[in-house]
Amino acid sequence: MRTPFIAANWKMNLDRAAVGAFCRALRAFAGDAARPACRLGVFPPFVYLPQVVEALAGSGVAVGAQTCHAAPEGAFTGEVSARMLVELDVEAVVLGHSERRQHFGETDEALARKLPAALAAGLQPILCIGESEEARDAGQTEAVLERQLQADLSAVEPGALAGLVVAYEPIWAIGTGRTATADQAQEACAFVRDVLRERGVEADAARVLYGGSVKPGNAAELMAQADIDGALVGGASLDPEEFAAIVEAAG
Ligand code: PGA
Repeated sequence: MRTPFIAANWKMNLDRAAVGAFCRALRAFAGDAARPACRLGVFPPFVYLPQVVEALAGSGVAVGAQTCHAAPEGAFTGEVSARMLVELDVEAVVLGHSERRQHFGETDEALARKLPAALAAGLQPILCIGESEEARDAGQTEAVLERQLQADLSAVEPGALAGLVVAYEPIWAIGTGRTATADQAQEACAFVRDVLRERGVEADAARVLYGGSVKPGNAAELMAQADIDGALVGGASLDPEEFAAIVEAAG
């Protein structure tokens, strides 16, 4: 049985006061034993990581970054290494989000270097993949997902990927209010698991999340699908009450 993982991707949002308020609300919520057994994670902008790690210490909520660099250190202005994150007690990192691929030129080659670096440092990677609307319309969804997965995981031994988290995020559903149907999301997540299995990864232990306009109103149906093990939530994760409602729906 895979415990659902509900992750809040704050992107470049909130400020110090709002981050503090969110963490207080999340702590109270996560500490309530009556809540369903979900693993929770928050992914704030880099600058708020120490504040969030401190505010959520001992709560069981995982704190992660939204990207990292493959090198441990060096002349890479503006970048942050996996080692630096671990030093701050950060546990996880989102890699390959479509916004980084689209706006910051993140390539599968770069991701193939980042994944082993994150794992070697001890971070839990959440690898994001997903097709564009054009690719879906052209019947290329599975081809795109397979290409991204194979390329991004190419430098990691399957045995090192136990407990891997992959987030299936169709680009056309991110921030658009257009969610994939439960059937579309299930089909893609099942396909992701098949590809992992073929690679020799322990696919039944891997978590496959869905992301793209997840809201309190659609979370229950999405999370009820056999191969959807949680959600990567953007817009609706900026409000603690909405986020809590999604977690409730996932249980
Ligand atoms: P969204 O973002 O929930 O706002 O669509 C999801 C994501 O980008 O991870």
